[in-house]
Amino acid sequence: MSNKLDRVSFGKIVQIRERLLKTQATGKKVYRFESGDPSFSVSEQVIQGIRTAAETGKTHYIPNDGIPELKNELRKKLETKNGIKLPSADYIYVTNGAMHALYVMWQCLLEAGDEVIVPDPMWTEAVENIRLAEGTPVPVILNHEKGYTYDATEIEKKITAKTKAIFVNSPHNPTGSVLDRENLVKILKLAHLKGLYLVTDEAYEDVVYDAKHYSLAALAQELYQGKDLEELNRKIISIFSFSKSYAMSGLRVGYIVTQDDLIRERISKLLRCTINGVNSVAQWAAIEAVKTPAAHLESMKKEYRTRRDLMLEGLKGIPGLHPYAPEGAFYIWCKIDPTLYKRMGVKNADELSSRLAEQGIGSAPGDSFGVHCEDAIRFAYSCATPMVQEGIKALGQFFAQK
Ligand SMILES: Cc1ncc(COP(=O)(O)O)c(C=O)c1O
Repeated sequence: MSNKLDRVSFGKIVQIRERLLKTQATGKKVYRFESGDPSFSVSEQVIQGIRTAAETGKTHYIPNDGIPELKNELRKKLETKNGIKLPSADYIYVTNGAMHALYVMWQCLLEAGDEVIVPDPMWTEAVENIRLAEGTPVPVILNHEKGYTYDATEIEKKITAKTKAIFVNSPHNPTGSVLDRENLVKILKLAHLKGLYLVTDEAYEDVVYDAKHYSLAALAQELYQGKDLEELNRKIISIFSFSKSYAMSGLRVGYIVTQDDLIRERISKLLRCTINGVNSVAQWAAIEAVKTPAAHLESMKKEYRTRRDLMLEGLKGIPGLHPYAPEGAFYIWCKIDPTLYKRMGVKNADELSSRLAEQGIGSAPGDSFGVHCEDAIRFAYSCATPMVQEGIKALGQFFAQK
């Protein structure tokens, strides 16, 4: 008896988290560097939104695609912040986080055997959702020396008759690289030339340091007109999340933006038959979040930058680890020199990550993010600053042991 879910992994990061929680239960201190969950509380405005929604009876069934009040706010946000103009809010679909957005979108876009070009490494679940929709992820290797750039020339080499879409994620999880305008435009032109869908996951749009975030859909609207723009507006599917921008990971709100009518019909059907609309209270909270003054986002970003610098400084001194200085997101991806395995008495990054977990230090081994990145390890710095400060010392001691 086989099922397509049998081809989907359990997720190493979840297993590491469980190990850490067990370690914590023994009374040992743990450093939660394994996963990207913002440490911040939601803003007072968001809490007020939740309270008001609950108190005013906003607790009944709602439209499958999202409440109109939220979709209207999102349309304004997309236009003013991202530069994406939409004919109406009907092109926005509210989902249970970006994870669910990816699930829904791949289910609606792919037919069995369709190929999707993806960066390697890549956040596991984005790729698992392609498999779940019976698509085939085709990796483009990102390398350290080239700043983990997702390169249009390399993407082009992977295009076959079966390619349906190019998946883009910038800022990128796990490397923290951010694609600049020039690279994004090259990818956009390539997708247009080849008539491919462009699926863009912009979950970290607000977590950028010295770089600038560009939305692919906005670049298309800036650079193309007439029939070309019509085609691109249809072929670009954008995915956003409230989890990272507003520290609302547990409230589970994300959204898909698409102007492809067939995909839109399918999304409506899938939303109806699966979740029947995202939690109404969370949607009212999301309305308040989008209206949050930019200063709130800036203060979180400032703190992330402090953590990044602390962690980078600590990691740089460890022989055999080559950390990449991220321009966005909240992860540090380190290439591992195999001499490090020998020095630490481990076989590979997997074992290294397990040993770290035994010491209460979270991490994610490279091969949880793809097939060509096993000699790497990711550390997340979304946990509180004191934890980063202490944890980086613990990491230094761990690596100094041998
Ligand atoms: C690249 C990327 N996309 C999407 C998500 C999912 O975010 P959400 O919490 O909105 O489901 C994550 C979560 O880590 C992510 O790293």
